[in-house]
Parts: sequence; structure tokens; C-alpha cells
Amino acid sequence: MTDPLRFNEKIYDPATATVGTTRVTYRAFKDLTYVAQPVDDCQKLNVFVPEGYFNGQTINGYTRVTAPIFMPNTVGGYLPGPRDFPGNPAPFSGSTTILQALKRGYVVVSAGLRGRTTQNLQNEYLGKAPAFIVDMKAAVRYVKYNAGWLPGNPDRIITNGTSAGGATSVLMGASGNADFFETPLQEIGAAPATDDIFAVSAYCPVHNLAHADAAYEWQFNGINQWHRQRVRIENNQRICTPIHGQLSPDEQVLSRELKAAFVLYLNGLGLRDVAGNPLTLDAAGEGSFKQAIEREILMSAQRALAAGTDVTKYAGVSVTNQMVTGLDWPRYLHAITRMKSVPAFDALNLSNPENDLFGNRLTPARHFTQFSQDHSTVSALLADPLLVAAVNPITYLMTKQSHVAPHWRIRHGAADRDTSFAISMILATKLANRGYDVDFRLPWATPHSGDYDLPELFQWIDNLCRTATK
Ligand code: DHB
Repeated sequence: MTDPLRFNEKIYDPATATVGTTRVTYRAFKDLTYVAQPVDDCQKLNVFVPEGYFNGQTINGYTRVTAPIFMPNTVGGYLPGPRDFPGNPAPFSGSTTILQALKRGYVVVSAGLRGRTTQNLQNEYLGKAPAFIVDMKAAVRYVKYNAGWLPGNPDRIITNGTSAGGATSVLMGASGNADFFETPLQEIGAAPATDDIFAVSAYCPVHNLAHADAAYEWQFNGINQWHRQRVRIENNQRICTPIHGQLSPDEQVLSRELKAAFVLYLNGLGLRDVAGNPLTLDAAGEGSFKQAIEREILMSAQRALAAGTDVTKYAGVSVTNQMVTGLDWPRYLHAITRMKSVPAFDALNLSNPENDLFGNRLTPARHFTQFSQDHSTVSALLADPLLVAAVNPITYLMTKQSHVAPHWRIRHGAADRDTSFAISMILATKLANRGYDVDFRLPWATPHSGDYDLPELFQWIDNLCRTATK
């Protein structure tokens, strides 16, 4: 009997595309089911391989067996993340990223992942947490199971994603082979292989949802107007309408409570700076942790200034003699503006995407923090804290229970308000404290977005792959 999970290199479509001034020729292996018992049609993946690898060629120093395997996902808003392909006109597509990666000599694997709205014909939800990460792990297991069949080096898997997709990428890196996912992986017939990876690339990962509300109020408490875009998709175009609001007196009270809760959480993490000094906050929310974030923003502004950017786009940045000399934190935050009301993620009426994510087979949405459950304005259930912890990358960095990726590149735009800077800062700091290789920056004036610096990302990958020994 043929093995349904075995990669077959004979069945493909030849393809070419123009990337800049270069012609890229590749083979597309499409719609491969990556689990033996799929529950949804989205559980398929596409593999793209530079044509040269089938003729013994070397591209960018790589061969058919040494090429990195780049695994971008298309998850956004914790919605289903369909498998992607070059030329895909959908707004979520990373078509250019795939082509740029192929040009660089990478093998690209794009897996479709279930998301919070995935339903079966009986209208039952099949993609609530932890489905997104179970599917991503199953896709990695498929790639590793096919070591030697599927081109590329399965010891050089790099995941990539933005926002909820960035969270997916960092959770992959943090939770390699963790026990929690073994049963759901078995249930869908994941290939017998491991799911730890070599490196993580993440843009503004909207993760650590259990503490994201508190982190948001630590950052934005005192700013009572919010400004966001309502996005709808029409004819494959994103149409954005600005909406604004004002925190009610009750919300302002909740904001203060959440801010206080963040101080306790942060101080319990045991974070340290590179010199080994504790990063903490006092009762007012001030302290070395906040200063560390301010330093990151200042360094970002300084890099932008050195590259010729006028860094006064946002208020609160002082420049003297071509040096960024100071950051006025409240003015800076006022200038980038608050985006979300209170609580930012676990909405009291269950109306946020994250409430949806933590629903279950028969429940569209649930709370995922005790705080919002206690203040709920609707009849609501609380998701199992073990589930909430299992999809939080930080869980795996506090106590050893997984195979953590050795290399991390995290970008969080310095103008991004979708989640607090503290969320990425905690992740990057904890990783560094645990001895992992971390490249963390807050790119200047950059809003919530991803894949904006592919040449630098690919240089980072090349440097890792050329020097790594195992
Ligand atoms: C995304 C953005 C958010 O603000 C959020 O709360 C969750 C996900 C996203 O863009 O994926």
C-alpha cells in the first residue's frame, strides 16, 4: 500500500516567475494532505523547490540536501490560514515572500492551518485553540518525516508569520515536541516525526494572550481615546474605515486594575538585562523594565536617523547634534495612539477574535482570563487555563518541557499598537536569559505589518545556516 504521507517528487507543476530582474524557475507540489486523518480541507500544504536542485545545481551556496526549509504561514486574526502560492491574489498572501525565498535558494513549504471560524457541515467548530498550532506542528512533522524525499534540510526549518501568524511562529519555536499536543496530533494522524525547528522569524507576534490585556493597560493607561480601522474584504481588496472611541469611566477603572496586575506578573518573570541586572517595575509601573523598552525605541530611532530618516514623525523623540537623546514616553504613546479599548483582548462581552479563538467545538467564544470572566457582561464560560497556557510560548520558557528553537528573530514595529511592546520584550528577554540566540528590534515608525525587511531576514537565515554545525 502506498503511504499517503510520503512526498512524491514525480508529481509537480513546473513554473517560472520574475522576481525583480531575475527569472525564478521552480517546481510546485500542490495540495498535499499532511495528515492521515484530516478533519478539514484546509489541512494541505504546498511545496515549492528551485528547479536547479533537480539538476545538481547550487543556489546561493545551497544544494538539494542543504537548502533551508522556509515555512511561512498566512494566519491573521487567528482566522484559518490557507496554504499560499506564488501569484495568489488574496490579501493575506505572502506571494512575494515565497518568490524571494525561492530566488534565495530556499525550499518553501506553505501549510494551510485551521482557525477560529473553521466549521464542519454540522456547524461544529473544528479550528478553535489549539488547532492552529496542532496543524502547524503536523505540517512540520510531515516535512521531517519526508527527510530525504522532500528537498531541503529538515534540520534547518525556519517558520515565519505576522501578528497571529507571528504568534504561531513563536509558539512553534517555543513548544517543540511538547506533550500537550501529542493527543490532538495523533487524532489527526500526524506523521511519526518530531516538530522542533531550527529558527523562528516573527513580526509583531500577538501572543501571551493570558497577560496581553494587563500589558496593554500598563502601556496605555491614562490614554482614554482609541483609534482603529474596521477592515472588510471586497474583491480581494482590504477596505479600511477608521473608527474611534472613548473609554468609559468603568473601563478606566479596569485599566488601572489591569495595569497593577501587569506589575505583579512582570516582576514574577525574573527577567534580566544583558549585564544580569533585574528588569522590574514598581507599583507605579516605572522601573528598569520600562527603561529597557525605552532604550529599544531610542536605538530604533537612532538607527533610522543614521539612515537619513526624520525621526520626529512621532512626538516625544528628542534629537541633539544628530543623536537621539531622549524619549518622552507619554508623548510618544499619545502620538502612536491607543488602538484597543479595555480589556484589549479578552472582551467582557466575548466580542474579540481572541474570545473566538478560545471557544470549543460547540461554543463560539469563551473568556480566557479570570479577570474578564469575573467582569463578564454576558453569560460566559472560561477556557481551561491549561489550554491557555499551552498556546502561550512563555509557558515553555518558564519551565523546561519542550525542545526550544535555538535561533530567534523578532520584529515589533515601533508604531505598532496591536499589542504592548512589553509582550515582545518579555519574549525576547526571556529567550536571551535562557541562552537562546535572539535578534530583536522595534523597527522605526513601523505599524502592525510583516515581511518588510526580507533581505535582512534572509541574510540572517543565511548566516545561521552557513555557520551552524548540527
Ligand atoms: C491580529 C491583530 C490583532 O490586533 C489581534 O488582536 C489578533 C490578531 C492579526 O493581525 O493577526
